[in-house]
Amino acid sequence: MSNTKTADHWKIISKMTLEEKAKLASGRDVWSTHPFEKYGIPPMYVADGPHGLRKMASDAASLHGSVPATCFPTASAMSASWNQDLIHQVGTAIGKECQANGVQILLGPGLNIKRTPLNGRNFEYYSEDPHLSGKMAAAFVRGVQSEGVGACIKHFVGNNQEHERMMNSSNIDERTLREIYLKGFEIAVKEGQPWSAMCAYNKINGVWAGENEWLLTTVLREEFGFEGFVVSDWGAVNNPDKAIQAGLNLEMPDNAFSPARIVEAVQVGTLTEERLDEVIAPLLKIILKTYALRKTKVQLDFEAHHQLAIRTAEESLVLLKNEENTLPLNANKLKSVAMLGSFAKMPRYQGGGSSNVNAYKTENALDAIQAILGEAVEVYYLPVYEAMGDQYDQSDLDQAIGLAKKADVALVFIGLPDDFEAEGLDREHIDLPESHKALIREVSQVQPNTIAILSNGAAVEVDEWERDVPAILESWLSGQGSGQAIANILFGTTNPSGKLAESFPLRLQHNPSHLFFPGQNREVTYREGIYVGYRYYDTKSMEVMFPFGHGLSYTTFEYSNLLVDKKEFSDSDTLKIRCAILNTGDCAGAEVVQLYVRDVESTLPRPIKELKGFAKINLEPGEQQQVEFELSKADFSYYDDTLHTWFAESGEFQLLVGSSSRDIRLYETVQLHSSQVREVVYDRFSPLRDLVDHPIGRPFVEKILKDFGTSLESDKPEDIEAKAIFLSLPLIKSVNFSHGQFSMDMLDKFLGDLN
Ligand code: BGC
Repeated sequence: MSNTKTADHWKIISKMTLEEKAKLASGRDVWSTHPFEKYGIPPMYVADGPHGLRKMASDAASLHGSVPATCFPTASAMSASWNQDLIHQVGTAIGKECQANGVQILLGPGLNIKRTPLNGRNFEYYSEDPHLSGKMAAAFVRGVQSEGVGACIKHFVGNNQEHERMMNSSNIDERTLREIYLKGFEIAVKEGQPWSAMCAYNKINGVWAGENEWLLTTVLREEFGFEGFVVSDWGAVNNPDKAIQAGLNLEMPDNAFSPARIVEAVQVGTLTEERLDEVIAPLLKIILKTYALRKTKVQLDFEAHHQLAIRTAEESLVLLKNEENTLPLNANKLKSVAMLGSFAKMPRYQGGGSSNVNAYKTENALDAIQAILGEAVEVYYLPVYEAMGDQYDQSDLDQAIGLAKKADVALVFIGLPDDFEAEGLDREHIDLPESHKALIREVSQVQPNTIAILSNGAAVEVDEWERDVPAILESWLSGQGSGQAIANILFGTTNPSGKLAESFPLRLQHNPSHLFFPGQNREVTYREGIYVGYRYYDTKSMEVMFPFGHGLSYTTFEYSNLLVDKKEFSDSDTLKIRCAILNTGDCAGAEVVQLYVRDVESTLPRPIKELKGFAKINLEPGEQQQVEFELSKADFSYYDDTLHTWFAESGEFQLLVGSSSRDIRLYETVQLHSSQVREVVYDRFSPLRDLVDHPIGRPFVEKILKDFGTSLESDKPEDIEAKAIFLSLPLIKSVNFSHGQFSMDMLDKFLGDLN
């Protein structure tokens, strides 16, 4: 950010009245900011949302009636592509649609962490892992902004449930915030430089996210280097003057009372006009910048965007199970196919709420598959269940069973209806609706070639019927091209390459946040801490249904030759890692190679592994390629919340390269020699064990052990036992057991010498 007050926006601010500045900090209406013609300040238009443009045709706050736009896969699908270039292309396409519609800021991407699969808005978020979320968000932001349109990372931060989102406090300790919930935003800011960020509705540790100076100014702006403006989530501001003080640059939508309250705060002296100037400066700078970058004549190629939507969906679909190569299907060998479930014809391709796009065109799997099969193959279609809810009619189910029996293969479309997951509404369980479960259960009993195609925005429980079907394809809410993408994958025109960006637990109850969600008395405390998703399941060695990073292909890949450029490195070094991947099957395919880091021994407890790198590569049959990663200090550090700093501890680290978090193919051990040294501060309750390596502590310990009839050196079994007890005594007990020889004053003096 240009802080020099000679910049254009500062010149304008110096001329504006207090009232005008307060007005600029608050929206003009639902989707735009106040213009001030006399200063050459234009209005700035904003619109949702993360996976496509939702530009409202009018100023209405309504969720429907937006202009036709391309509906791309939602974030939870896009992240399963693990393809940053592709996400960049999606961002670019949406940026173009924004330009064509006069929108300067796109209100996305959403990158809140999937703490629990119950969050009704998980479909709008990328992952349970902050590294993956941050990288995807940064790619998306760069794409949107390459078109001269600002992206807006949201919802900053701790908005991990919809339950009481406007009144609860997300209570998160600093280490967990830094390592998990802030990390993705940090990556997105540092690698994407978004022009905007949206504060969450909720409080963080008791302070509204939009009034939290530590978050908005210290962390986001000063530490991460954010240079854009922070906008409130719609209606999130409770105290406009406190929001300005904290660093919230724009309240949206308009609130007739806010400008007067800001003016009053300045007049009574609870807010300074200098602070108001500082806060509107980045906003005005972006307003002027986006105006200068406006394109008035944009020719949209909707067909090209549609093809991109199909490609993105194809890369997002995850083949969860494929026993005995049930898939791909061979169209030439089929005489009849049963397509069961209304999602086959009426796909659920996006979620409900503010991200809902008016898709200008949609594909459904029924039409796409019929086109692949041609006239010669009979297709029996039956919707069986309604688009919404749990209900079904037994006679429909019986008819479906009959069709499944007489067909060569049954494609069963199941998932979550709109009313099961949406903005403003958390899920009550992660089960499928009874109607969908009955369909897959019954059909799989009569047709061995039953393939389940799932459409849902977040993890679901499949344990009840998974064993009875040979193949499961997760199609998420994969946008307007979903039907074509599903057909292409089922029939092998496209080789699946998506991998899970979230774990599928066996049961909801296994989720680490289960006992602490959704909180009570307007407080939700993240007691599971840093152990989110696979960080928990893997550290606990728990069985999961499908692990983080899992996804099958129609080909196979061989991993070999893991090489590091140095086995020993310092915290100022960059570690270069490479390995070779060979396509050993007989069709082309793409593999997502994942790099995890494990801290072998650490002062603070750490997850057994953490994702620190990934790459997606395309390989022809028999082709081999090298994949390269670079790691630096940050990738080995944890956040120490007593020292309030990132800490890279000397010692051994394992590098784990694999095809999923549970399918590690290559290992290497490296040694970090860190310049960071943990200073030990001794106090009255330090255990004697901690003094053993201290030059004046050791003789002290030796003397005490001698008084108890043992010694540090002895390895006799009875001495090992005695040492275990005595070395764990806190220092203060040396006063109790000294028979009056060693007083508390002497101890405190000794502590002074030790420290
Ligand atoms: C949502 C935001 C959205 C805004 C504007 C809010 O309710 O939480 O994600 O951008 O509305 O539609």
